[in-house]
Amino acid sequence: MAPQQDPIERFLSQAGEASKVILEVAQKGGFIHVFSHLDADGIAAAGVMGKALARLDAKFRIRITQQLDEKIIDEIIGDKPQLVILTDFGSGYLDMLQQKLPSSKVLVLDHHQVNGTISNPNFVQVNPHVFGIDGASNVSGSGIAYFVAKAASQANVDLAPIALVGALGDMQDKYDQRSMQSLNEIIVNDGVAAGLLKVEKDLTFFGRETRAIHKTLATTTNPFIPGLSGEEDKALVFLSNLNIPIKQGEKWRALRDLTDEERKRLCSALADHLLSKGLHLAVENLIGYVYTLTKEEPNTALRDGREFAVLLNSTGRMDRPSLGIAICMGDRKAALEESNKILEDYRKNINKYLGWVNEKPERLRELQNIYVINGESFINEKIIGTVSSIIVSSLANNEKPLIAFANVEKEQAAKFSARTTEAAIRKGVNLGEVMHLASDTYGGKGGGHNIAAGAQVPIDKVELFVKSVDELIGKQLRGEKLAGNDNA
Ligand code: C5P
Ligand code: C5P
Ligand code: ZN
Repeated sequence: MAPQQDPIERFLSQAGEASKVILEVAQKGGFIHVFSHLDADGIAAAGVMGKALARLDAKFRIRITQQLDEKIIDEIIGDKPQLVILTDFGSGYLDMLQQKLPSSKVLVLDHHQVNGTISNPNFVQVNPHVFGIDGASNVSGSGIAYFVAKAASQANVDLAPIALVGALGDMQDKYDQRSMQSLNEIIVNDGVAAGLLKVEKDLTFFGRETRAIHKTLATTTNPFIPGLSGEEDKALVFLSNLNIPIKQGEKWRALRDLTDEERKRLCSALADHLLSKGLHLAVENLIGYVYTLTKEEPNTALRDGREFAVLLNSTGRMDRPSLGIAICMGDRKAALEESNKILEDYRKNINKYLGWVNEKPERLRELQNIYVINGESFINEKIIGTVSSIIVSSLANNEKPLIAFANVEKEQAAKFSARTTEAAIRKGVNLGEVMHLASDTYGGKGGGHNIAAGAQVPIDKVELFVKSVDELIGKQLRGEKLAGNDNA
């Protein structure tokens, strides 16, 4: 590799290396086992890889799990695949993988922080961090799968919208006005050039395609609009004062259905409303880029990139990931209908969990450097991550990370989901590092991104683990280096 190449070129050339391995195994009729993570990004990554493999007529199987552990690797070995492809996880567990899979061909297509190094020539890793590209915000698991798929065949460019959906699911639209950068920007441009994506500026409220306008306003938490958020009646009055009809015939209108003139009127009224409450910063968050999948039916969740991501997330977290993968690979009708039901159940569950946390103030504990929620056996361990993501944005002190956990009874373990904000990152917090070190100390496994990370820890070590996380974050805030030793 020429040293003058820029990080993006080096990353793409590594994606090319991975695609060669796939082409070679597929040509020989080898059996390929794809393993991916259960969130929106993991499912999108599996869908992209699945479609690319189907186009090669490869023999393959896809499995979705919440995390990588020894048990799952043993199951992989049992299938005797000629190639194992890990998408959206793997880089945090390189030592374990090489130890357990010494003689298999393995592709690790991941954007999490890397732990360990690769010494086995049968392993190929494509990870942005290796090239100095930030994996938390510049490319996601589905994006990496996309670049490998595109290197295998230019036909796979039509998977750019799915790759983007994964990145949105991982909240990588963190740049100015919710734009994408770096490798993600290439994906967006590919999708636009292929006529599959439209990028425009609009109100970024969630539910652009499918939610009635007043409900969109009332359910908005980013930005939070005092007097409208959580108050459907007042949202109705607000719209009526602006002469914006909420129905077209019998049908509720969604944000997408507004005329340009109505959109402007709504936007400036919202801005005035926020300013009257002194919320100058929130005004800046009203408008941003929205990503429309132009070939999808209007008024469906698949038409809006962010709504599509939530739909995928729900299939994974509600134990129906094959529905999400089928949709990413092009299925509609039955799979879509079923997913919409799953999505509804998923929302009900989340509301139930949020209600439970709020029911008793002591369910949110505040320690010196972190907040802690113990979801006991009430919150499903597959949904604790979503709950953690939602609650972290509403905490009194947004520089204190939130560590939420729930029991995984059959494994006598607890599943932790840690989340924080850009403000804490700027002060030196790195949750991936903390989860990795603290879980390692107590016989668990963990890792992730600086801003979002997770771990699984034996149930009898939970209190010690929480204490250790609190201390490690304290150290990071004081600028002390953590012991990078895995045996700490
Ligand atoms: O395993 P994976 O990387 O796909 O999971 C990322 C999780 O972290 C998502 O659930 C997302 O909500 C969260 N995240 C975040 N902000 C980022 C990146 C990820 O909140 N910049
Ligand atoms: O599971 P959760 O959504 O909380 O995960 C947050 C991030 O941490 C994800 O990107 C996930 O892949 C990562 N993680 C990890 N190892 C674990 C648990 C989570 O790398 N044991
Ligand atoms: Zn991801």
